[in-house]
Amino acid sequence: MTISPALRWPLPKHDYWSTPFAESLLHHLDLRSGLGILDVACGHGIPAFYLAEHVGPTGTVLAIDASAGQVARARAIQGSHLPWLRFDCMDMRALPPDLPTFERITGNLSVMFFRPDRFKVVEGLVKHLSPGGQLVLTFPSRGTFDSLWRHVDQAMIWQGLINERERFQTYLYERPSIKDAQEWLQQLELERIDVTKYPLEVATGPGREFLHHPLLRGGFLDDVYECFEDQELAEAFMQRISEDTPRFTPLIAQRCVMSGWKATSSSI
Ligand SMILES: C[S@@+](CC[C@H](N)C(=O)[O-])C[C@H]1O[C@@H](n2cnc3c(N)ncnc32)[C@H](O)[C@@H]1O
Repeated sequence: MTISPALRWPLPKHDYWSTPFAESLLHHLDLRSGLGILDVACGHGIPAFYLAEHVGPTGTVLAIDASAGQVARARAIQGSHLPWLRFDCMDMRALPPDLPTFERITGNLSVMFFRPDRFKVVEGLVKHLSPGGQLVLTFPSRGTFDSLWRHVDQAMIWQGLINERERFQTYLYERPSIKDAQEWLQQLELERIDVTKYPLEVATGPGREFLHHPLLRGGFLDDVYECFEDQELAEAFMQRISEDTPRFTPLIAQRCVMSGWKATSSSI
């Protein structure tokens, strides 16, 4: 029996959002030593550090993020380790034409930021994928936290919040779905397409615990607040929602992984 050496750069155990998404990404990624990988929307390095450790010194990982703060944080964590891993500040929606191609392109929790034209961004990434290379992206797909959104929708109906509900419906409809992901990969003629979702339960209690939940605030819940012009009304509305958690828990996120391979003869 061979015992693999302990990983020095495992996915962080205490991260209850990025890590479970990255685990599903890695489940689909064909990761080997010596590969050249582009990791988009890298944040502070999930899963870039993990990828770099696995490709080893004969491979390379270029990890990009639009936020200078995230790149600085990632570089601070890296220090002088894994010199074949580079963090750069770059917009994944407009990659420079002189950027080379990569054998793998990954992006954990990335697709929701492919605005305004998600297909165009996926197409741009595929242009930088080497023939025979694999693209693997993850995102919380439509269906994520549906029990909460149904509750919010009902509350808006009962309270006669017509304009707020209209904006809320637009927001719900705008979120990327599994079907979208499947269609993008088919349109780009990728091969061995696999779009799979994995449920993930996010625990929460009522009141402040819900309203200030690190995974919900600064993202999902903010989208509801943004449906209100009157922020005091939004506060009162969300306060009442937060008292009703037993009516919409468990909260289930859908981790969507989209994976496809570029044909060895592709001209894209
Ligand atoms: C949810 S975080 C995911 C970070 C990391 N991959 C992880 O799993 O923890 C999304 C990241 O996308 C970055 N981002 C958003 N828009 C971007 C863009 N247009 N180009 C590159 N990065 C972008 C954000 O700065 C943020 O760090």
